[in-house]
Amino acid sequence: MSKLQNIMFEQVQTSTLLKQACDSAISYQKNSHQRAVYPSQQSLELLKEFDTQLPEHMGDGEAILDLLAKQGELNTVRYSNGRYYGFVNGSALPIGLAAKWLADVWDQNAALFVTSPIAAKLESICQQWLQQLFGLPTNTVAGFVGGTSIASLCGIAAARYRQLSHLGWDITQQGLFAAPALRIILGRQTHSSVVKGLNILGFGQQQIEWVDCDQQGRIKVESIPPLDKSCIIVLQAGNVCSGAFDDFHTIIPKAKAAKAWVHVDGAFGLWAGASQRFATLTKSMHLADSWSVDGHKTLNTPYDCGVILCADASALTQAMQQQGSYIQTSESRDNMMFTPDMSRRARGIELWACLAYLGKSGIAELVDLLHQHAVYFAKQAEIAGFKVLNEVVFNQVILSAGSDESTQNILKSIQNSGVSWCGGATWMGQQVIRISICSWATTQSEIDKSISIFSNCLAEYNQPM
Ligand SMILES: Cc1ncc(COP(=O)(O)O)c(C=O)c1O
Repeated sequence: MSKLQNIMFEQVQTSTLLKQACDSAISYQKNSHQRAVYPSQQSLELLKEFDTQLPEHMGDGEAILDLLAKQGELNTVRYSNGRYYGFVNGSALPIGLAAKWLADVWDQNAALFVTSPIAAKLESICQQWLQQLFGLPTNTVAGFVGGTSIASLCGIAAARYRQLSHLGWDITQQGLFAAPALRIILGRQTHSSVVKGLNILGFGQQQIEWVDCDQQGRIKVESIPPLDKSCIIVLQAGNVCSGAFDDFHTIIPKAKAAKAWVHVDGAFGLWAGASQRFATLTKSMHLADSWSVDGHKTLNTPYDCGVILCADASALTQAMQQQGSYIQTSESRDNMMFTPDMSRRARGIELWACLAYLGKSGIAELVDLLHQHAVYFAKQAEIAGFKVLNEVVFNQVILSAGSDESTQNILKSIQNSGVSWCGGATWMGQQVIRISICSWATTQSEIDKSISIFSNCLAEYNQPM
């Protein structure tokens, strides 16, 4: 046995590294609530300690973990402290985190049934549960990917396969370059990840037929051009700023009648389909062809949990096809048939754990809670002197503090406070503060603490010199 192996086996037997990591992780999690939501300037300076040359020789595992725990932890962003409202970032439910830890120790390659029966089984259960939860067609299949960006790319790849096949073209054999033209229909408020996916798949931005949106960011139904079987139209369940949902009930049946492919980007908003409260917003959403969604947003799974759901199983598996004489497929589910990747971690395990733990009523309760907190945040922000620019239909709130300059400066002060963190954006030509209530850990009392910081920052900025 080599010296290297000896050391590794000893580490396995004594579990010193795992125990050290476990202790650090538990103390990190317990203290999250009291700690600054964002690293201080002083902490950011400490990142320089990682600027070393690649070591010539083996190091000391405990010292490496210690560096990571001490300096690394100071430079994390604490999504789970209840006062983080940036991007659309969820935070991990304890059950999801625990399941992910176990899965990390199992270190499974989720590519095939034969490489991990447990990963194959749990991903097939997640597929079935998600299909039921969102009321999707019973033949809907799911691929488990890193996030919605990749999930949408998969959905559009499936759409590209199917729409070209309607036009007598097999892209898997004949390729894209001489293929008949497809038409891509997007709302002007489509998330940039969809445009990135289209670019990767060979659709240039000049090819896109852009449709105007209303003041909430919803596609104007009357502005959609006539659709046909060469079309792929992408709709949104949840605009990244306003949280608005496109009018699925009017658009989807018409698009389907014209044989267009409908993809729904539901990164965080697809979860509205799990609660009766949002039945009007999600009406007819299930009639689309494909849907992308994240576990790591509204459901609060740990990160790296995106899902492509596709009602046309053969379009997705054709688009993702891969063969090799050594690739041993099975009668059961082989996960790699539904995604671009082959080897990957078994991300379905923590998704399964979160779904199993919350159940239908727990998921609905979580989704409703995020909405209620967004409504509460908007109300308190308005009382504090901010202007709320959107209808708070889901978990997103858009604020203005007056002019672009004051909004940007106040946003900077909020970000520097360490107490609360949110981002900015341009919304309908105006600088805004974006609030996304996406963490299970946000409570009314954390919102109150945040609003008091928002209020102080506004008052300080408006103070006469
Ligand atoms: C509507 C929408 N689509 C796509 C994405 C990208 O998702 P991900 O970061 O998981 O790739 C986001 C991210 O916030 C989003 O809000």
